[in-house]
Amino acid sequence: MSLISATRPGAKRNAASPRPLTEPPPRSPAAPRAVFTAWIAVVLVVVLFSGGLFGYDQGVISGALAGIKSTFALSPLIVEVVTSWVTLGALLGALAGGELADNIGRRRAVLIAGSLFTVGAAIQAFAPDAAILVVGRLVIGAGVGVAAVAAPLYAAELAPASWRGRFVSAYQLAITVGIFLAYLIDGWLSANADWRIMLGAAAVPGLLLFFVALVAPESPRWLMKKQRRADAAREMQKIAPAGDDVEANLDEIASALNHESSRGTWSEVFHRDWRRPLMIGLGLAIFQQVTGINAIIYYADQIFGAAGFATEASRTTATTWAIGAVNVLSTLIAIAFIDHLGRRKLLLAGLLGMGVSLIVVGAAFQFIAMPAPVGAAAASAGPSAAGVVTLLGLVTFIVSFAFSLGPVVWTVINEIFPGRIRGRAVAICTAVNWGSAFLVSQFFLSLVAAIGSSATFWLFAAFSVIGWVWVYIYVPETKGQSLEQIQGIWKGLRKRPSSPESSRI
Ligand code: BGC
Repeated sequence: MSLISATRPGAKRNAASPRPLTEPPPRSPAAPRAVFTAWIAVVLVVVLFSGGLFGYDQGVISGALAGIKSTFALSPLIVEVVTSWVTLGALLGALAGGELADNIGRRRAVLIAGSLFTVGAAIQAFAPDAAILVVGRLVIGAGVGVAAVAAPLYAAELAPASWRGRFVSAYQLAITVGIFLAYLIDGWLSANADWRIMLGAAAVPGLLLFFVALVAPESPRWLMKKQRRADAAREMQKIAPAGDDVEANLDEIASALNHESSRGTWSEVFHRDWRRPLMIGLGLAIFQQVTGINAIIYYADQIFGAAGFATEASRTTATTWAIGAVNVLSTLIAIAFIDHLGRRKLLLAGLLGMGVSLIVVGAAFQFIAMPAPVGAAAASAGPSAAGVVTLLGLVTFIVSFAFSLGPVVWTVINEIFPGRIRGRAVAICTAVNWGSAFLVSQFFLSLVAAIGSSATFWLFAAFSVIGWVWVYIYVPETKGQSLEQIQGIWKGLRKRPSSPESSRI
């Protein structure tokens, strides 16, 4: 039975056939009611600060570049390096983050991310020359990478099962708030080109993250993996609602870890048993980026410039509100619905909206020149009709991304792998996500120069369509299931030798 036929409306299914992966499982009767305790609040603060710093450090550079260029008289190549090496640092940080999260624990990995954020921000703020500034960019990038692996992992393992989607989405919400705050601060400080303050400001929340992570609970799942049941019970006690059976919860974790008490090797991550979740994690990580989100986040100013937003102020306003604020608000939709509607519905609806809006933006760019014209001629023109269509198209794109691929990708990546290989597998997916982000942000302008803006946006649209079909076929519904139950999905697939789907993994 293929997954497609399993989901086709009206398809007959006899009582004995397994539940299609695209349908949510019946709610476990034993699922405890989640209660928002003080410790759960601490977990949430760790998640929010990690995401916020991730977003801030990603968004802030757009407004800082002008001041940096005039301080150091940089060549275009170094400008690109200063902009994009945060993503390289993040790629390396993500790979190291998996090792750290598995070896020293999720909480301590977040501690290290907090230190890197603080040190990186300080290096950037006091950089005497461009070389040191690039070092600061790499260090902060490493912090972003470590946090990008450790914080959602931490959220997924410490949140009550029925809130897991919301917690990981809260991480995404914090990323968008960080980007928005960065755009706002850039706007306020741009008049004086205070780039040192823009970049250095991240040290303050970095330090706060460090101190909160010092007292935050460690993941009981990680402690169980390290065979520290007593410590796991103590930490579980902190986050479990009063009256919850902590020992029974630990037993469930223990039986999932089962003979998996030691840590999986790298070759196990790529073992055929886990090929399916790895394929899903990598696919989601790649589709999140190749559909163009960061081309828009990083180059929004230029796109709006080309669309006729001729003054600096009008571009900053469009970027801050149409991209930054809309991104934040739409992520709230995901938080409200991810644990009710499920991951698949949000992904499919979002990819559809992204595909359609990208086609529209591509069509509008038939009437617009990119890169943006500069100088007096441009300053006199207001946004054309095509410019307004572009603005609406981009807003629709951001809305569609923010309630779907933005949060859902991180949620799914953090819940599909068995505990034994979770740290490393999440790290690989995160690194591939950063690698894809690096390629897209590095080559967006060259692509526009080579094939034109319309074709570039249509290329992103084509990836959205391919992504839709791929999600429809391969991504199972995981809402409301414990991390242990999700492992049953892959086991179920392996036990269906006659299934064309299972024979492919
Ligand atoms: C992505 C980032 C992106 C952000 C935008 C995240 O989920 O991983 O690359 O910049 O969403 O909100």
